[in-house]
Amino acid sequence: MTDTPKHFPLPTHRPEVADFLATRRSNLAKMMTGPGPDASTRDALLEIAARVPDHRKLAPWRFTVFEGEARGQFGQHIASAFMTDNSDLPADRAVFEGARLTRAPLVVAIISSPVDCVRGTPVWEQELSAGAVCFNLCLAAQAHGFAAQWLTEWFAYDDRINDVLGLTERERVAGYIYIGATTAPASARTRPDLEKVINFWVK
Ligand SMILES: Cc1cc2nc3c(=O)[nH]c(=O)nc-3n(C[C@H](O)[C@H](O)[C@H](O)COP(=O)(O)O)c2cc1C
Repeated sequence: MTDTPKHFPLPTHRPEVADFLATRRSNLAKMMTGPGPDASTRDALLEIAARVPDHRKLAPWRFTVFEGEARGQFGQHIASAFMTDNSDLPADRAVFEGARLTRAPLVVAIISSPVDCVRGTPVWEQELSAGAVCFNLCLAAQAHGFAAQWLTEWFAYDDRINDVLGLTERERVAGYIYIGATTAPASARTRPDLEKVINFWVK
């Protein structure tokens, strides 16, 4: 006679979390305002962000935090790169580009930073882990009552800006996560037709 396996109630059984995930929406960075998280809440959010699936515990990502004046200072590099490429556009466009990070009180760049792994965790898996960090940070912020949005926009792919961030050749920006309060509730968004994306495998 075989023993019936014991069934433990999982500590992760949290219906309110399921409800949060089922109804969650991103907030628009352009509708954000202050206040953002205080320093200890910000640190708690970053700690949650780093708590992601990560094959072989490589921590193949790093964070650059922008707060206060640092947002506008970094924005000057964005504005300057933009105007170099678009010198025909009016100067107020430089102001717009320079203010991108000031839309939210807290912006965190998540940098995918794959490492050489002798046992061979593929770079793809390491990059997926960086994506998980981005979303986990959004979820952490929203669970703490803040608005959050994951953006890349053009400058995440600009070598000049990535040099300012100090990226190495293998590193890439996975996202800039904007966190703050919001001046407008998120509206509904059309979701994929699940019948088109879910298959049940049959032999
Ligand atoms: C890697 C990545 C980059 C994104 N970059 C942008 C962007 O540059 N601009 C934008 O409007 N939305 C961008 N989004 C989409 C928003 O973050 C968000 O997913 C979208 O507004 C839908 O929100 P939802 O979370 O409510 O589905 C990006 C999403 C991902 C995953």
